[in-house]
Amino acid sequence: MLERGKLISFEGLDGVGKTTQVRLTAEKLQKRGYPVLVTREPGGTPLSEAVRQLLLDPAFEGMSPVAEAFLYAGARAQLVREAILPALAAGKVVLCDRFVDSSIAYQGYGRGLDLQFLRFINSFVLQGLGRFLTILLDLEPGLALQRGSGKDRLEQEGLSFRQRVREGYLSLAREAPERVKLIAATGSPEEVQEKVWKHVLAFLEGNQPGGCF
Ligand code: TYD
Repeated sequence: MLERGKLISFEGLDGVGKTTQVRLTAEKLQKRGYPVLVTREPGGTPLSEAVRQLLLDPAFEGMSPVAEAFLYAGARAQLVREAILPALAAGKVVLCDRFVDSSIAYQGYGRGLDLQFLRFINSFVLQGLGRFLTILLDLEPGLALQRGSGKDRLEQEGLSFRQRVREGYLSLAREAPERVKLIAATGSPEEVQEKVWKHVLAFLEGNQPGGCF
């Protein structure tokens, strides 16, 4: 049992296999006796799930990028306060299927919003949160596109949007190598999991420090 919990986020384009890797990691951790909380973004609390409906609804095709950024930040603020911080205080390992880097990659690099603005609003969202680890699953956007379901509002964005989002993620990995671990998401889920697990274990055992946002 950890004295204080640890947070690990999973990031990457739609279709890279994040959700599968979150599930496989959770199963392995539970087998080893770690208490685990799995969350997803946008979502994870009743308010955040309601905001998710708004964000992914194709009816809101004309949503302004600034409105979009605030809605994601709002859903995240509630998730941090209501679910993540209490779970960490209780000593759990929290696995987040997407977290704050999604806002930098999608709203910043994808939509072209100012990165300082996004960092500023999210600094209030993350108040009280310390170091964490981020697993970045990377796949060429054309390949990721084939795997995604393609139905929600963000999945309807084109290939050039996805290329910009991927560039954003790669920049984050270059800027914060202690926290953001880049993993090629090619190969079978089990092969990818082996690479993910090495980083997860090193982080939980204190051999890898992670970093702050
Ligand atoms: P996700 O739940 O991962 O989609 P799916 O379950 O269909 O794979 O994420 C929904 C979409 O929200 C995804 O296209 C990425 C986008 N997103 C942002 O643009 N900014 C954010 O801050 C977050 C958390 C997600």
